[in-house]
Amino acid sequence: MTNDLLFEGQSAPAYSRTLANDNALSSNTDYDISDEYIRSLGPAIPVPILNPGRLEKRAREFTAAFTGQALYAVKCNPDPIFLQAMYEGGVRRFDVASIGEVRLIKNMFPDAKIYFMHPIKAPEAIREAYYEHGVRAFVLDYAGELDKILFETNAAPDLELFVRMAVPKNKPGGGVATDFSRKFGAKPDLASELLLLCRPYCTKLGLSFHVGTQCPDPQIYAKALKWAAKVIENSSVKVEALDIGGGFPADLGGVEKIPPITTFTKTIAQAVKKQKLETLELLCEIGRGLVACAGSLVVRVEGRKDDLLYLNDGTYGGLFEAGGAIGLPYPAHLIRKTDRDFEGTIQPFRFAGPTCDSVDMMNGPFMLPSDVQVGDWIRIEQLGAYSEVSRTDFNGFGTVQKIIVQNELSGEKAVQALQI
Ligand SMILES: Cc1ncc(COP(=O)(O)O)c(C=O)c1O
Repeated sequence: MTNDLLFEGQSAPAYSRTLANDNALSSNTDYDISDEYIRSLGPAIPVPILNPGRLEKRAREFTAAFTGQALYAVKCNPDPIFLQAMYEGGVRRFDVASIGEVRLIKNMFPDAKIYFMHPIKAPEAIREAYYEHGVRAFVLDYAGELDKILFETNAAPDLELFVRMAVPKNKPGGGVATDFSRKFGAKPDLASELLLLCRPYCTKLGLSFHVGTQCPDPQIYAKALKWAAKVIENSSVKVEALDIGGGFPADLGGVEKIPPITTFTKTIAQAVKKQKLETLELLCEIGRGLVACAGSLVVRVEGRKDDLLYLNDGTYGGLFEAGGAIGLPYPAHLIRKTDRDFEGTIQPFRFAGPTCDSVDMMNGPFMLPSDVQVGDWIRIEQLGAYSEVSRTDFNGFGTVQKIIVQNELSGEKAVQALQI
């Protein structure tokens, strides 16, 4: 079995995998790059590591476990290498947010089905998606968007319309990392009215929701499905599709254990049955839950003040979701610059990014050996989603050196993807 790296702009060096064992990360059991390789590379800029083989495996597992059809939410990582791996893993439907994503998917996978699931779309985007790229499925959460879709498609007879429901929450934030129902979705009563309003204008009518991203508890889906059943019943019209959105969590390895993704898929299947929704076409728009595991980021420690580590990457780079109100405590792993004996403890650290902005700080806690030194590297895991996609050049720190891990599953395909 070969383990090779594709390093952008270079030929692939061979390596063997070893991981240091005195750190908080222990879940890497598949093919990956070694700490030795990072040390030999000695990167002075951030290094995003993409593992398309891991993603392909994850996509296969998820599509087999989910009783409906999985749409991949392109926004969370539109890297063509990952899109290709997703396709190889069996994903044939894509949830897009913009005309740029429509064009990207159409160009790479002409046979894929595209769902335009941003509730508020530019009129030009609707028109181009419908007439130039064959998109038929659109979402809306208020009557004005229905008018827009009908106007831009000349009230096409083959539309598939989804009404997005805001998911009522028991507690503020609803236990998720970001609650999307604050921004999008019609309250249940309005959602029923919108279903009724849309019915004459579409060949397929659907109800959709998003429980919020990084949802830790499968029961949150079960509760949302109860609401969905009520909304459909109250609409008094026939509804053919049910789209349960994204929200499937990444495993951040923290103290609060997240159930395996198959617990989510099982709970959802049971709740669909319980609510008598099993005759509807079931869809989901999974993003993070598929792709987070396939990306990591190596950063260098540029300064240390007690538990505060100043890194060469931060919230304006690949660590957007580690900062601010989201504040995800990603699993982190120390790569010492030099071999040294370690007799300390594992302790919580905070991170600060390289920009001069004090918003660029991350509270974690990030669990690392206490002997972290300036010049060491830290590999941060579960960063395949919402990381590289939100990188900026702020303060001149936008440059990275990307590595693509090649293994049996993705080998040749990764090479091809690089040439896209
Ligand atoms: C409409 C829609 N669908 C799906 C997703 C993907 O969500 P997640 O990454 O939580 O699976 C998002 C995330 O922003 C979204 O806005």
